[in-house]
Order: sequence, then C-alpha cells, then structure tokens
Amino acid sequence: MPETKINFLAAFVLVTVLAASSAAPAQTADQAWLRYSGYHGRTEIPLRVRALGKSALEHSAAQELQRGIAGLTSASSYISGSAINGEIILGTNDEIHKAYPELTIPSDLGPEGYWLHWTKLHDHTLLIVSGSDERGVLCGAFALLRLVANGQNFTHIDLRSHPALPIRWVDEWDNPDGTIERGYAGRSIFFEGGNVREDLAPVAEYGRLLASVGINGLNVNNVNAAPQLLDSDHLRQLARIASALRPWGVRLAMSVAIASPQKIGGLSTYDPLDPAVRAWWTAKVDEIYTLIPDFAGFTVKADSEGQPGPSSYGRTPADAANLLAAALAPHGGVVLYRAFVYNHHLDWRDPKADRARAAYDIFHPLDGKFAPNVIVQTKEGPIDFQAQEPVSPLFAGLRQTSQAMEIQVTQEYTGQQRHLVYLAPMWKQVLDFDLRADGQSTPVKEILAGKSFHQPLGGMVAVAGVGRDRWLGSPLAMANLYAFGRLAWDPNLSPDEIAAEWTRQTISADPQVASTVTKMLMQSWPAYVNYTGPLGMQTLTDITGSHYGPNIESSERNGWGQWHRADDKGVGMDRSVATGTGFAGQYPPEVAKIYESLATTPDELLLFFHHVPYTYKLRSGKTVIQHIYDSHYEGAEQAANFARDWAALEGRPDIDQKLYEDVRDRLRYQAGHAIVWRDAIVQYFLKLSGIPDEQGRAGHYPGRLEAEDARLTGYKVIDVNPWEDASGGKAVSCGDLPPIAGQVLYQGTTSVVPNAMQKDAGALAPEETKSCSAEWTWPGPAGRYNIAVQYFDLQGGVAHFTLKVNGQPTDAWLADATLPSRHPHGDNSTRRTVQNVGLKPGDVLRVEGTPDGSDPAALDYIEVLPAAPTP
Ligand code: GCU
Repeated sequence: MPETKINFLAAFVLVTVLAASSAAPAQTADQAWLRYSGYHGRTEIPLRVRALGKSALEHSAAQELQRGIAGLTSASSYISGSAINGEIILGTNDEIHKAYPELTIPSDLGPEGYWLHWTKLHDHTLLIVSGSDERGVLCGAFALLRLVANGQNFTHIDLRSHPALPIRWVDEWDNPDGTIERGYAGRSIFFEGGNVREDLAPVAEYGRLLASVGINGLNVNNVNAAPQLLDSDHLRQLARIASALRPWGVRLAMSVAIASPQKIGGLSTYDPLDPAVRAWWTAKVDEIYTLIPDFAGFTVKADSEGQPGPSSYGRTPADAANLLAAALAPHGGVVLYRAFVYNHHLDWRDPKADRARAAYDIFHPLDGKFAPNVIVQTKEGPIDFQAQEPVSPLFAGLRQTSQAMEIQVTQEYTGQQRHLVYLAPMWKQVLDFDLRADGQSTPVKEILAGKSFHQPLGGMVAVAGVGRDRWLGSPLAMANLYAFGRLAWDPNLSPDEIAAEWTRQTISADPQVASTVTKMLMQSWPAYVNYTGPLGMQTLTDITGSHYGPNIESSERNGWGQWHRADDKGVGMDRSVATGTGFAGQYPPEVAKIYESLATTPDELLLFFHHVPYTYKLRSGKTVIQHIYDSHYEGAEQAANFARDWAALEGRPDIDQKLYEDVRDRLRYQAGHAIVWRDAIVQYFLKLSGIPDEQGRAGHYPGRLEAEDARLTGYKVIDVNPWEDASGGKAVSCGDLPPIAGQVLYQGTTSVVPNAMQKDAGALAPEETKSCSAEWTWPGPAGRYNIAVQYFDLQGGVAHFTLKVNGQPTDAWLADATLPSRHPHGDNSTRRTVQNVGLKPGDVLRVEGTPDGSDPAALDYIEVLPAAPTP
C-alpha cells in the first residue's frame, strides 16, 4: 500500500531549516486565525501524523496538521511530545478502509465531508481523519486543528460533518491594474500593472486560510469584468493563480463580460443566440480548461450599472446564462449569474418606481428557463448590502433554479473595516428567515442548500476584498471572513460560538479575552445600525460617493433608487401593495401580509416598507423621531463601550501588544466616527422635522466650542457639504479647499489612526507662517477635563495639529489617516481626544493647524467634557 509517512520530528526540523533559509513571506495565514499558538488547555493527542494517500490535498492536510499541532502543543503547558503513543491517520474513506478494514466508516458522509474518530487498535491509539474525498480529508484536518485550539477533548471523539451548501466561494473584485473595487486593505494580491503578479506566495497563503474554513472556490476578478483577462496571455497567467490555490482545494473562477466576443473576440456582436458568439464562447472555455483543468466557472454581471448584457439584443438573462452554461457543462463548470440587475436611472418622482423590485421582476418570470449548471446569485437584501434590509424575496421566487446568496465581507456599506462590524448575526438572521413558500417552512438556508425546492446546486458567495495590507483593513474584520466560511459550511452554527472560536484562535484563548471580544463582536452590528440608519432606512451614507460617512440626501432625488423619502412630515418608502410600490407583494403570502401592514411590520424594517409621520408610534411605544434620536445616542455609546471593553484587556498575557494597540486605536477612531454619524443624522432630522428630542440632547452639545465662533488667525469659516457632517454645518479651513472635481475615491490602506508627533511638536511646524489657529477662552469651572478636537483629515497631504493650553503644547498629532474624500466631510471628520487636562476659568485653549498639500487642516470644533473620575 502506498503511504506517505511523515515523521513529526523530522518534519519539524525540515520546517525550521526552510524557515531559516528563506525570508518569511510578507503576508501569511498566521496573521489571521491560523496562528497555532496561545492554547493552554489539556488535550491529549498523538503528535505523529501519517497520510495514507499521495494526493496534493492530502499532502497539504498532513503538512498543516504537523505544523498546527507543533504550534499548538508547544504553546501548551500540558502537552509534551510523549503525551500519546499513537498516530493521527489521514486518508479518504477508501484508503482508511483498506488500511483498517476493522473500522466501520460512516456510510452517509456527503461530498467533502469528514469523520474524526478516536480508536485503539492493537494497543495503539489512532486518531482517524477520514474524508469522503480528498477535500474531505483536508477539511477534516483543519477541523481537527480548530478543535485542538478550542480545547476539545479527543478521547473517544466520533464526529462527522459535511458542508450544507455545495458552492462556498469568495468573490474578489480585483482589477488587472491592481486596484480593488470596494477593497479597503491595500492593493490586489493577484494583479498589478495589467497582469497577474509574479509573487503569488500570498495567494497560496490565502488558499490555506480559505480551505481552513471550508471555502472551495475563488472568483478572482471584479464583476465589472475586464474583458482582456480572457485573452490567451492572461488565461495563462490566471493558470498560475489556479495552481497556487490548487493544493488547498480552492478552485479558480472568474468574472466575464458578456460583451467579450465583441470586445476581444473580433466579432461584430455578442448576441447570446448568435451561432458565432456561441462558437466563440465554446472555444474560449475549451482553452480555459486546457490551462486550468479544475476551473470552477464564471460569474456574470450583465445589464447592470452600465455593464452590457443580453438586453442589448432583446434577450433575457436566461439566454446569456445558458450560453455560457452550455460551454462550461462538458467540463463540469458552472455559471453564477447575478440577479443584481436594475435600472439606475429610475424616476424618483414616480411613487411606483422601486429598485427593490427589480431582481424579482426580472428573474422570477425566468424560473425554469435556466440550464442545470446555472446558479442565480442574489444579494441577501433587495437593495445593496445595506446596514439593514429585509431578505430578498427572490429566494422564494425561484423554485426551479439553483440559487446562491451573495454577502459582503468587505463591509462596503458597513464601516469599510474601519468600524468593527461583525456581520455573522445579520447573515444568520437572513439564513434562518422563513419565507413560508406555499405556507411551508422554507428558511433561506434550506433554499440555498437546494433542499426546499429540490435543486442540484446552491450556495453562499462572499465579496471578500482581501488586499496586500494583512488581508483585511483591521484584524477584527477577519472575523467576518472566518464566519462566512463557517456559516456556509454549517448555517446552523451560532454567530456567537463562531466569534468565540475565532477569538480563541486569533487573539487569545484566555477565557476573559474570548468572552469580551465575543461580546464586542456580537454587539457591533446592532450598534452600527443604531448610529447609521435604523428602522430600515438603510445606511444613510454617501450613496454617490464613498459609501462611508453620513450623507442623507445623497440617496434622494436621483436615479439610484436608494430613497428613504424623508420630508418635513415623515420618512420611509411605501412599498405596500395597497398604496405603495407593491414590493411587499413579492414575498409569499404569509410574509407579504406581515410587511403589507404597518401594524405587523417589525420596527427594524418599518421605514423600508412604509412612509410614516415622525410622530408615528413604534411597537416599542416610542415615536419614530424619538427612536431616531435615541438609537443614535445609544449606538455612539455602544461604540464608546467597545473601546472601553478592549482597554480592560490591556496587559492580558496572551494578547500581542502590537495587536492590542492597533485594535485600541481603531476602536477609539470608531468611537469618534460614531459621534460624527450620530450628530449628522440627529441634527438633520431635528432640522427637517422641527421636533425636539424629549431628552434634550439633539442640537445641544455641552462643552462644545465651535471653530467658527473662535478667535481665528488665518483660518476661514467654510460651509461643509453636506451641512449635517459638521457641527452647525460650518468648519474652518486654513487656506483654500481643493476643487470639488478633484474627489478621489479612496482605494488604499486603512490606516485610521492619527500618529502622535514628538513631545515638542509645537516646534515641529516647518513653516510656522502657514499655520492657522483657533482660540477660545474656557468659560467653564475649574476641573479636570477631556478635550476632544474634531478635525477633517483629508487626502492629499498630512496636515498637523497642536493643542495648546495657555500657550503650552498639550497634544500634537499628524492628520495622516487614509480616509475617503478630498473635502471636509463626514467621511474624514476625525476626533482626537486628550485626557485629563486641568482647566480653570479664563484659560486659553488654542488649536494650531498646519496644512500640507491639499489638506487644509480644517477644524470643526473642540469639546471639553469632565474627565471621568479615575478609579
Ligand atoms: C455596488 C457597489 C459596486 C458594485 C456593485 C455590484 O453597487 O457599490 O461597486 O460593482 O454593487 O455588486 O455589482
């Protein structure tokens, strides 16, 4: 029998030697949850690993196990190399059966499934990792490591698992030039300068990460697809990416432009029913499979946001999808055809127009017309990854079509990785949502598994957006990537258990750390909804720009259809059948009935389905307007608590100090930006509705001293646009602002943290003459205070600021964060707080701002609040 015998100690020596001889790759999976350290529990496990098969996947599985167990056990104070005299045996069911015929292998392991089994044979302990196929072996190995890291007792373990959903892909929206659409972690790990990168080491590391949570496909390029990636030269380059991923069982897929036959194929048409077009795709797909034999398939965005599509020829999405499906079918490939098709030139004056209706209106009539290897891929909600939306009704509207749900790890509308927003609770809500098709139980997770409507395929796809800056823009954002994989494997897992699992592996296995971080993660999405757009209003962000900071009216009165229809009397979109757009009627009757009526629509979606006066009483008993005020104050307080909760972990022995400081600074930033959000939405609705806040907070900011009211030297008062993004609508700027057309959407790294300058920073201003200052005389009583400076950290330069009290520098910092927008805006309004400063009446507070490049050191206000008494 062929066996690959890997001796643990020998392998350990080999790994050590290799590590010493080559420089460590810049970006590795152990920067994420595959750290394999920090475990302190008692787990008895054999340390010797033996793979029965020779396949690449089994080899990866064996290597990973060795490496993981070496790491985890060396971190444990209990486990030593002699703990267990036995072996971990890896193999497919067939291989295990041949080697150990006396074992009864479960017969019901689905594809990619595994069985972990502890047994004693002839006085020898065996921990069996049996896979129904090679991928199952790999998934089993990673599962075993996850269990070790989480303190599982293996003695007598007998555990089987297989994925609920066959398609579990990440989508990368990377462009050949190295940029990433909606990416917030630096440049592409796949592309640069029009080509695939030479260094694909990070891609292999990414493959490891994906495999460890069961992800089996990677769509490598932007859905707004560059046609040139289909030319022969680029296909050969893409084959290198496929090879880097292959040892991890992650198959390569790509986005294609429907117009490719015309754009790069030299044809005069891309009509899906044209025989020449058909022949072109067939030949192209054949070429792909000669280069990439395990190619997974195509993702298609067509007739959407300016992308050409079958409608140019009066054809349907089914015609286009089936054309590609026919070319892919002989090779086992699939088409994920996106249902994100809508008209972005809608007439906002038309009360019946509704973007939310589009996917169902277009795709429901095509049900039954798609080829068996087509999967319709639908975003989880009917609009576009908003902070809160109802579930897409299309999931129940396609009964004879395989379906996948698209979600976003990249957090385009949910804080762009600068805000801690753990999305698993939202995804779980969607997965569990029972659409009641035909009055039967039809939770979304069962539709996606193909169970509800007996479909052959289905799955979950996450837009990941990883980049070269340590994968995602913040260490805690990685919990979303992890959770996506875990939920796609098993939608019945609970988001808090996933969060705890992730924390133990990534940050620390210390129970206090695990419970604190889990609590923070679990509260983060509700908090974000609270301080952005509650009650189903959607994110209320800059729809036509960054999708990051607040800009309430940007979604109104334009063709994009993300309207919330706020006016001086009320707010919300009427989507009822009786008086509105009829969207509510797209759900199966039981659900439609709930959303049709004001009385039964849940508060959290009220304004998505109904337009109501501000004085309308919610089920909670509050008026809508009071809820808007309260939720924003509550959300900002929750964000402040995250920073406090994290600070309580300082010095825990297991937490890496650098990670601790990085997360601390990000959470402080978030707490400050949550205040920007709070104040923008609250002051906007206060002005629009004219209804005061029962609690007297809206429009009243104790301790706030506006820059426009200060004694200004050099600074000029400016109007901020949108007005609600600055306190009182105004700020001050040192010099002229760059022209508005110069707006650049941020595509870089996600540093959010201003850097402290050296102590004598006051002296650091290189050209003192260019500095401006704003000065106030402290009108309050003597005491100790925290002083917050609210300024705008613009792109295109690193302005710097100094805060002085009676001429003495108290704090100094650089405005060097990378935030969207070249204009003072909620995108870049940033808070810097100096703690515990002694003040007495008449003290002079002064902020000096020194512009740099196109950053004019703009300033909104300072806020002087009593320092919390130190315990
Ligand atoms: C959003 C996003 C775009 C993206 C599109 C899509 O609109 O802002 O960047 O291309 O979704 O999913 O196709």
